[in-house]
Amino acid sequence: MRYAPITERLAGLGSDKWVLHSAAQARRAQGLEVINLTIGEPDVPTPADLIETATRSMRKGRTGYSNGQGEPTVLGALSDYYGSKLGRSISRQRFLCLPGTQTALYLAFIALLEPGCEVILGDPMYATYEALIRASGATPVPVALRPEAGFRLQVDDVARQIGPATRALFLNTPHNPTGAILTQEDLDALCDLAVRHDLWVISDEVYQELTHGEALFNSALANPTFEDRVIVASSISKSHAAPGFRSGWLCGPEEFCRRALPVSETMLFGSQPFIADMTAEALRASPEVARNMAARMARRAQIIHSRLDGVAGMRVHLPEAGMFALLDIRALSCDSQSFALGLLETTGVAVMPGASFGAALEGWLRIALNAPDDVTDDACSRIVSYAQREAA
Ligand SMILES: Cc1ncc(COP(=O)(O)O)c(C=O)c1O
Repeated sequence: MRYAPITERLAGLGSDKWVLHSAAQARRAQGLEVINLTIGEPDVPTPADLIETATRSMRKGRTGYSNGQGEPTVLGALSDYYGSKLGRSISRQRFLCLPGTQTALYLAFIALLEPGCEVILGDPMYATYEALIRASGATPVPVALRPEAGFRLQVDDVARQIGPATRALFLNTPHNPTGAILTQEDLDALCDLAVRHDLWVISDEVYQELTHGEALFNSALANPTFEDRVIVASSISKSHAAPGFRSGWLCGPEEFCRRALPVSETMLFGSQPFIADMTAEALRASPEVARNMAARMARRAQIIHSRLDGVAGMRVHLPEAGMFALLDIRALSCDSQSFALGLLETTGVAVMPGASFGAALEGWLRIALNAPDDVTDDACSRIVSYAQREAA
């Protein structure tokens, strides 16, 4: 039988990247103990009041078909949410509701890209990004994010990669896996470059509510000068501990939304009204879940720093936001996948090898911050003993 080329382009770019996570689950299924620090899940269940809202809404009969753009309840809440964050009016026509940031990005790329064009993005990158770009037939052009620049995408590095085929810059701020936040100056310089070369700017801002300590988030939409070419994707997965609800959106220019709508309708035929009602309530409430989660995660990053930084030549990179810390194991001169597999087999601690996120993060490990403090501390003790053995 014959298959479409998309199946070839995406082969190996799906769950294959999560070998460590699958190995950890297989170990657990065998009854072996595992501390799983591979995936960035919220560390608390979805708040009971949001589940109650969704349930009430279902009981009221909000289980029919919706329209392709989104229910008026959630479009109104999104317009108010972005309006108050950005300090200017953002019309309802600038949103498309989709099942999570992942699908939102898929739609954006299908609507903007085509075979032969290129998208510039930072390396390391979130594990699905290469597939997202390749699905459309476009080619990802990675630009190394350097630890000495705080892993922030540098405008000069991007400028060097721009060519006639470049169609878009793909940003992720706050960034997974590095936890870096682009400053307003970074964003202005990158958007200015996009104007000069007539590029789209797509920004994944799913971690926007999870800033640590005093760190400040800046949206790619903050500067109205650039809003005719900026598209932001986000969701309530992280901010409201609700990844299973699959509720996200795109915010872009009205014309983009008009043109992308039939694509979305073809894929989804609308989303669930009871999830829209729950999302509207989540967006209108204060982001307390996110604030508390961010505080716990920042504290665990500090635990990891105090336990591992300097041990056996390892260094810890503290995130400014998000659910992960990075551990630099280059001094131990072994590749990140072998180290992570050895660590799991020997100590039961599962972390992601940096190489899963791009060539630039080879020699690093990504550690999720969602385990309780004592478990995080226990994982650190095991990492110390394994690293010291490797260093010997
Ligand atoms: C950077 C980034 N983008 C998107 C997603 C997926 O988000 P959603 O659940 O909204 O699809 C994740 C999930 O971990 C992520 O880390």
